[in-house]
Amino acid sequence: MKKILEMMEQELKSAFEACGYEGRFAKVVLSNRPDLCEYQCNGAMAAAKAYKKKPIDIATAVVEKLAGGEEHPVFSEAAAVMPGFINLKLSPVFLADYMAGMAEADKLGLEAPEKKETIIVDYGGANVAKPLHVGHLRAAIIGESIKRMGRFLGHNMIGDVHLGDWGLQMGLIIEELRDRKPELVYFDESFSGEYPKEAPFTISELEEIYPAASAKSKVDEAFKERAHEATLRLQKGYAPFRAIWKHIMEVSVADLKKNYSNLNVDFDLWKGESDAEPYIEDMIQMLIDKGLAYESQGALVVDVAEETDTKEIPPCLVRKSDGASLYATSDLATIVEREEDFQPDRYIYVVDKRQGMHFEQVFRVAKKAGIVKQDTPMIFLGFGTMNGKDGKPFKTREGGVMRLEKLIAEIDEAVFNRIMENRTVSEEEARETAKKVGLAALKYGDLSNQASKDYVFDVDRFISFEGNTGPYILYTIVRIKSILAKYKENGGRISAEGTEKHILPAKGESEKALMLLLAKYNEVLENSFAETAPHKICQYIYELANGFNSFYHDTKILSEENEEQKDSYIGLITLTKRVLEACIDLLGIEAPERM
Ligand code: ARG
Repeated sequence: MKKILEMMEQELKSAFEACGYEGRFAKVVLSNRPDLCEYQCNGAMAAAKAYKKKPIDIATAVVEKLAGGEEHPVFSEAAAVMPGFINLKLSPVFLADYMAGMAEADKLGLEAPEKKETIIVDYGGANVAKPLHVGHLRAAIIGESIKRMGRFLGHNMIGDVHLGDWGLQMGLIIEELRDRKPELVYFDESFSGEYPKEAPFTISELEEIYPAASAKSKVDEAFKERAHEATLRLQKGYAPFRAIWKHIMEVSVADLKKNYSNLNVDFDLWKGESDAEPYIEDMIQMLIDKGLAYESQGALVVDVAEETDTKEIPPCLVRKSDGASLYATSDLATIVEREEDFQPDRYIYVVDKRQGMHFEQVFRVAKKAGIVKQDTPMIFLGFGTMNGKDGKPFKTREGGVMRLEKLIAEIDEAVFNRIMENRTVSEEEARETAKKVGLAALKYGDLSNQASKDYVFDVDRFISFEGNTGPYILYTIVRIKSILAKYKENGGRISAEGTEKHILPAKGESEKALMLLLAKYNEVLENSFAETAPHKICQYIYELANGFNSFYHDTKILSEENEEQKDSYIGLITLTKRVLEACIDLLGIEAPERM
């Protein structure tokens, strides 16, 4: 469906042109004086400069040309006001028809993109063998939402978890394992048989091994050296270490999958830094051959500074003096791999904003070396830190890094208690509901902030059923569900889409306001994705939920005696529910039946 703003603009454009002015002045925007009008066009001001006339004269002429008066197909009101604004109100008939169009259209009237793009979303970024902590939460939540948004719009979205599976933690684990179980065949240099299928540790052992090894490396220099050595050997393909690495991967990835699935987050690709390894050698050679990479103090670097830079962008390090790869090396090689496999039209990286410099360097090398086409957008969506109420990075009460599972369990518990206060449902149902609502509280609490900003993690606020929170949005959906359920209990019939209900032109103010909000849907979705900004969807559904609740407050829906009118209300709230549900799905949350 055409966007409602475009439809209005079309009308104004014809009017401007009919008056002899260029159509480009016909831009329509949401009114900043909702008490006076719904939309406005400020084009007469700009046109006045271009044509050297008074803005009000232009505005008046344009309004006159919007012929039809009360009968106008789009506007019920168009007024020229000083100094030259055009104030607009939509025709209720037109708006009601637009609602009907949305209800019937595929995806509620969202149009397919002009060009279907293949887009890589690199998010997640968990590090294998290290427990998932809240630091990884934001990447997962925001990235999942971006992927869902793009996919819903019609793009070919490829989500890649891009595991940190090739770093020093592997060497640390290997050497710690050697110290604990030197008898294992992996440490017997003369062993030539097949390595066991069974991993020499469980996930809980693994989770304990890594922190122990990491702590040891901070006090034991020789141990640290061994870990470095082991990491290098692993990266060079030393078979026994490869075998241990495989065990670590199996055990850890299974656990990660469980954790992500609890978050309602899933990936198309479970690739990691290690998958880039086979591409590194050729890529480095190519960088040397092109004259881009050169030696500096034994290491290999690529200059990426540009004349227009306002801050210093240091050269990108692609190989250390001992021959080891770096973070940038594996990210570049991963891009080589992605180009080979998918030829993406766009890249979106959802990573902690403190890695901004790293990605700036990587993107520049990728473009300079022609790994990626010049005009392929490479977007770094850097997110801020999740802070505690003290304004410092979020920690547990004991001061440690909070494990994700624990965090989720705490939120669920808090929501559960809140639900049980009302005691309208069984304990079992309350548990199930608490899971859904808890996840919504957590995700919405995150997504409703602009991603790049730090935010304060505040469970009490996040789980509140009032205000701009996930539970409030869900509660609104549940409220609509319960009205519809009552309607059916009383013998009313309605399909899931509700398209058979004829939506009448709005009579009341809050009814029209609700329709105007619904009509913004396709515009909001397109913009939110174009700006990689899930918080704009949150903002929208918060307004929409408020809009619905005012309408609900003003209107007797089920006790309406005029059947035609009641049908119309039922159709309208069904559409509201569908729009809300479509939007929360893009945030990766779902509504329960009751709350
Ligand atoms: N594993 C990294 C970390 O924990 C994040 C990975 C982000 N993605 C990337 N392509 N580098 O910091």
